[in-house]
Amino acid sequence: MGVIVAVDGPAGSGKSSVSRAAAVELGYAFLDTGAAYRALAWSVLEHGGDPEDAGDVERALDGFAFTSADDPAERWVRVGDVDVTEAIRTPRVTAAVSGIARVPAVRARLNDGFRARLAAAEPGVVAEGRDITTVVAPHADVRVLLTASPEVRASRRARELPEEDHGAVARSIAERDAKDSRVVDFLEAAEGVTTLDSTDLDFAGTVGALVALVRQAA
Ligand code: C5P
Repeated sequence: MGVIVAVDGPAGSGKSSVSRAAAVELGYAFLDTGAAYRALAWSVLEHGGDPEDAGDVERALDGFAFTSADDPAERWVRVGDVDVTEAIRTPRVTAAVSGIARVPAVRARLNDGFRARLAAAEPGVVAEGRDITTVVAPHADVRVLLTASPEVRASRRARELPEEDHGAVARSIAERDAKDSRVVDFLEAAEGVTTLDSTDLDFAGTVGALVALVRQAA
């Protein structure tokens, strides 16, 4: 088995872009687990289902075929043969995703798929989400909780979504964290998990700190 690097953190912590860049630098595969939850939320909406209805969610889970790029230099996400790379980032999907993520059958199914990908990755993989350090890969070689202050997370996310109002972005992040943290705890580092606080670090500094943690451990 290759080296497994598990990164968790709240919305807007930059974990996705930081983990991807670290994977490029390390020559590892990359797994964005949030993309799988988003892709399932997209499927529920695409079938005209209600993301708050566990029956509708379980119907969409039946036959749900999620694939995404292993190579961190690529960016595609597919459901079956439909490319949903852009579609899973819309505010409509973002608002629906916490509802589907709390269905236990969803978490069990997606986690099986994540673990298979982690086991197959050579020479290593950086996987990011909310429960990678605690549930998906508690025995990962490197386990990191990436945090940043709520103000910094909101302004980073607002820069990615220039069409959205800053206050609305901050509220949407806070609401999603509140809903998600009822299902999995990613606001406090679990035992043995290193906290990397990026509040006062720029992007390159945060990537460098993550890569250094991996090189220390490997
Ligand atoms: O990381 P991202 O913002 O793309 O995650 C989207 C959503 O997927 C989260 O708000 C959460 O509801 C869900 N999620 C999860 N467990 C993970 C990754 C994401 O519940 N490991």
